[in-house]
Amino acid sequence: MSDCRPIPVILDGDPGHDDAIAWTLARASSRLRILAVTSCCGNQTIEKTTYNALRVCTLIGLDAPVAKGCPHPLMGPVMNAPSVHGESGLDGPALPEPDRALSKLSAVELMAQVLRASDEPVTIVATGPETNVAALLLAHPELKEKIARISVMGGGISHGNWTPAAEFNILVDPEAAQIVFSSGIPILMAGLDVTEQALILPEDFTRIRALGSHVSSIVSQWLEFFYIFHRSIGYAGAPMHDPCAVLALTDPDLFRTERMSVRIETAGQYCRGMTVGDRTGRPGSVPNAEVLLGLDRAAFADRLVDAMRFYGEVAQ
Ligand code: BDR
Ligand code: CA
Repeated sequence: MSDCRPIPVILDGDPGHDDAIAWTLARASSRLRILAVTSCCGNQTIEKTTYNALRVCTLIGLDAPVAKGCPHPLMGPVMNAPSVHGESGLDGPALPEPDRALSKLSAVELMAQVLRASDEPVTIVATGPETNVAALLLAHPELKEKIARISVMGGGISHGNWTPAAEFNILVDPEAAQIVFSSGIPILMAGLDVTEQALILPEDFTRIRALGSHVSSIVSQWLEFFYIFHRSIGYAGAPMHDPCAVLALTDPDLFRTERMSVRIETAGQYCRGMTVGDRTGRPGSVPNAEVLLGLDRAAFADRLVDAMRFYGEVAQ
């Protein structure tokens, strides 16, 4: 008999347009139960992503504690992405001011508290650099068994986006990613192989806008912002990187996956931050990750549009 209970999750990310859309999808899904939200330093500084996290949770009515993450990667320098997400980290439509206070706990301590209190293992959805998750594993190794899975947006088996070899989230903190990927906790990896197929087109955000709710209007503007930027650098649409890490949990039927060993390059003159997937099946190549490699784009877009009905719909 299949287990229909919602999956308890912690959302850890650096909103960020696609993080915000991922959280909007998570909030709308009856298959997830969101226990906490934590910000990480990535698309913008920790101050900005934390403020954005509070504003997004306010917008979508996400009722879970929000905690501020680590201010910088474990070892390397802070690296942000204003060219993609703007100076605020979430440029575009005006958002409501936060209607809640930040948790007094740090992200790591909030995650630890939630894991300790949960009577079943919790899934972490990590859509930014993996600094907080690695810091949690270092500080509280005894809580590993309370983590069911880590659904990561990061890396790419075939290529990178910030360097030829490395994707942004992994490049920002390769040491953290190395800790997470070698932790023994099951990893679900949504890398560029799949997220660059998860393209949203104008016809899709027009359908979302037509739903007529406040949230769908904001989401369609985030999508348009993301689309315009990505078209300017040669993409055919807006790649929904972070939503794949949520939909991989709620709608696994959308994806084609393969289990393989994935290691993180932490040194290397040209390849720091690379996710090295071993598909040779040679002895010693023990799979540690289920890697998303393919999806049906049209079905993915339909699922995204449908999910937005959760926030209301005006009669057409
Ligand atoms: C990742 O980098 C960020 O800019 C996005 O939010 C996503 O998590 C894609 O490389
Ligand atoms: Ca992100």
